Amino acid sequence: MTAHDHTPVLEIRNLRKSFPIKASLWNCHRKTFDAVRSVSLKIDSGKTLGLVGESGCGKTTLGQSIAGIYSIDEGQIAFKGQLLKSFNNFFQKETRRKIQMIFQNPYASLHPKMTILEILAEPFLIHRRVLNSYEKKSVPFMAAELLNAVGLNSSDLSKHPDEFSGGQKQRISIARAIALKPDLIIADEPTSALDTYTRLQICNLLTQLKKKFNMSYLLIAHDLNVIRSMSEHVAVMYLGTIVEKGPADAILNTPAHPYTRALVASSPSIQRNPNYLKIVLTGDVPNPANPPFGCHFHPRCPFAETRCKNEAPAYRKIGNLVDERGVSCHFA
Ligand SMILES: Nc1ncnc2c1ncn2[C@@H]1O[C@H](COP(=O)(O)OP(=O)(O)OP(=O)(O)O)[C@@H](O)[C@H]1O
Ligand SMILES: [Mg+2]
Repeated sequence: MTAHDHTPVLEIRNLRKSFPIKASLWNCHRKTFDAVRSVSLKIDSGKTLGLVGESGCGKTTLGQSIAGIYSIDEGQIAFKGQLLKSFNNFFQKETRRKIQMIFQNPYASLHPKMTILEILAEPFLIHRRVLNSYEKKSVPFMAAELLNAVGLNSSDLSKHPDEFSGGQKQRISIARAIALKPDLIIADEPTSALDTYTRLQICNLLTQLKKKFNMSYLLIAHDLNVIRSMSEHVAVMYLGTIVEKGPADAILNTPAHPYTRALVASSPSIQRNPNYLKIVLTGDVPNPANPPFGCHFHPRCPFAETRCKNEAPAYRKIGNLVDERGVSCHFA
């Protein structure tokens, strides 16, 4: 094994992404707010990092910033040890090919007028992987192979997305995402739109493909059962920052941050430690454009003290696990 084998597939440092606040007719100052504040994390080769957090905390923004859909305001993104040219236009074509996304809604992400063959041929054509007529002829074979890999039939190639169920559509989205043999897939709630049984099937398919093609995943999901079954590591996001991260078992069995404890407590099938005081989240996520001073979580935290109101907690490592585990809380 060489040192190179330990290079994370993705490492991001202090990533910040802001959006403009819509200016009103009377107030035309261009103000922005940070949807992602200062996020640092890494994904090891062949592993899955599960990303959890309430609606609006910035998960999709983070995923799409990594995928190059958004240009970032600050920070660094290293892909397989190579710093991507950050800020505008960091996204070179080759990297784009190696990082692919799967979206939540398979109904919206597949063009209804295209055949499955056209949908699956698109990545090859966009990335000019197909240069000569011989290779052009091989596209239908490659598309058929992709369909087989996701458990569909090559006779489905001439059909349109409407002719498939939600689970089958998500299989097609997955086939499209793996077409160019990516190293990293950002799966943004890939199973949220599916029923429990289909959800399980898609989770199994993703796990199986990960091993087969040695891919890594950033898995965004609300369902902690999905996170537990698929991820080696977990990061917990609150109002644009990571409040806790580490090995999935450690985080889900003994959550340290009060916010993580509340998330785990809200998922009874995940809660493993009956001695834990159950934390129930009250109130809504604060407006990211106007975050609370000090620890962003303090207005909702049952353990908040004066210090939490005045001082933002720094990220610190806890425990003595081989894999890093850390938390941003004064008292966790
Ligand atoms: N394109 C955009 N322009 C302006 N604001 C945006 C844009 N995309 C997201 N936001 C805002 O950024 C914040 C984070 O949104 P984001 O979609 O990343 O959250 P999320 O964690 O993915 O939520 P959910 O779990 O509901 O998908 C929200 O306040 C959202 O309104
Ligand atoms: Mg989202």
